[in-house]
Amino acid sequence: MNPPALDARTIVPFLADIFERRGAEEYLGEPVTMAEHMLQSAWFAEREGAGDALVAAALLHDIGHFTSEFGAYSPNDVDDKHHDAAGAEILAPFFPSVVTECVRLHVAAKRYLCASDPSYDAKLSMASRHTLSLQGGPMSETEIATFRASPFYAEAVRVRLWDEAGKVAGMQTRRFSDYAPLLQRVVERHLGSLVSGEKAP
Ligand SMILES: [Fe+2]
Repeated sequence: MNPPALDARTIVPFLADIFERRGAEEYLGEPVTMAEHMLQSAWFAEREGAGDALVAAALLHDIGHFTSEFGAYSPNDVDDKHHDAAGAEILAPFFPSVVTECVRLHVAAKRYLCASDPSYDAKLSMASRHTLSLQGGPMSETEIATFRASPFYAEAVRVRLWDEAGKVAGMQTRRFSDYAPLLQRVVERHLGSLVSGEKAP
């Protein structure tokens, strides 16, 4: 599968299409679909007054579960163990580092919180607790130090808390299309605001 030719004009509609076609898929044993989970995460970010970039990060943090859509991996690749790194890689041509780093670190942030915040473990869903062991368990002291040295570690922790909160069965949220202008703003700001004023060739 060849990667689709995405650019600043097409990336947001492309993401919308993934949410539309694949959003109803199950989210790893949670009582919400993939789309509900990511839309709830974005809503919790918004509710806390997060800026555009962090709302975008919350909304897109699990996009790495859909790597086959980007042609980055085999269409038959159902192994999502590294969906954090894969998601960051997919978004990197269009989104700023704060977004891609929050996506890349959202699994690490869970391991960090489990090691550093005694109250966090109680917030984990059954499925999240199960995957924790597959993801390496709570961080060691050395891993904590490395994680805290990441430039966007504090932002990644915030996104992780919204991620964990976004597993509420039946919760009403905005739709993906409501976030399209916000995502387009983040992309355009990052790529130099060239798109909207550009003339067609
Ligand atoms: Fe998630």
